[in-house]
Amino acid sequence: MQRIFLIGYMGAGKTTLGKALAQTMNLQFIDLDDFITGRHHKTIKDIFAEVGEDGFRQIERNALHEVSEFEDVIISLGGGTPCFFDNMDVVNAAGKSVYLKPSEDVLLKRLIKGKHKRPLLADKSDDEILQFIRQQLAWREPFYLKASLTFNASHLENKADIHINAEKLASQLLDM
Ligand code: S3P
Repeated sequence: MQRIFLIGYMGAGKTTLGKALAQTMNLQFIDLDDFITGRHHKTIKDIFAEVGEDGFRQIERNALHEVSEFEDVIISLGGGTPCFFDNMDVVNAAGKSVYLKPSEDVLLKRLIKGKHKRPLLADKSDDEILQFIRQQLAWREPFYLKASLTFNASHLENKADIHINAEKLASQLLDM
C-alpha cells in the first residue's frame, strides 16, 4: 500500500507534479483543497471569507485526517497544511512525505502569475508578494523540512520537464 503526501509552498508544483506522479506510479491523485471544496461546495476563497483563516485551518485539519486513511494515493496538501496543529506528525505517521522546493525566483514567477486564485496573495503587489514569501518561508520551512524527502521542483514548466521529474521522484520514492 502506498500513501504519499506532497508538501511545499503555494506554487511549488504540488498539483502539477502530483498528477504526473500519480500517473507514473499508477496511484490516485487527491488534492486537499479540491477535497475540501467538494465537501463544502464552496471555493477556498469563499471559506476564507466566511470563517477566516482560523476556521479554514480547522476544516483543513479535519480533511487531512480523512484523506490520511485513503490507500494507494498521492495527496497534495495546501501550502499551509503542514504548519498548523500536529499535521506533520499525522502526515509522517500515515505515509511518505515529499517537500517540493523550487528556487525563490521560480516560486515568485509562478505566484505572480496565479495570484488571483490565492486568497493570501490576491491583494498584494509583486514586491509585497516577494516579501511575504520570504517571511512565510522563514517560519514554514522548518515544518516542510520534516518531510521524508526534499525534491528540487524548479523545473516544471513544460510537459517533458514534468514527466522527467515525475519519473525521478517515483524512483526515489520506491527506493525508500
Ligand atoms: C494556502 C495554500 C493554498 C490553500 C489556501 C492557503 C497557504 O493551497 O490551501 O489558499 O496557506 O499556503 P496551495 O498551496 O495548493 O495553493
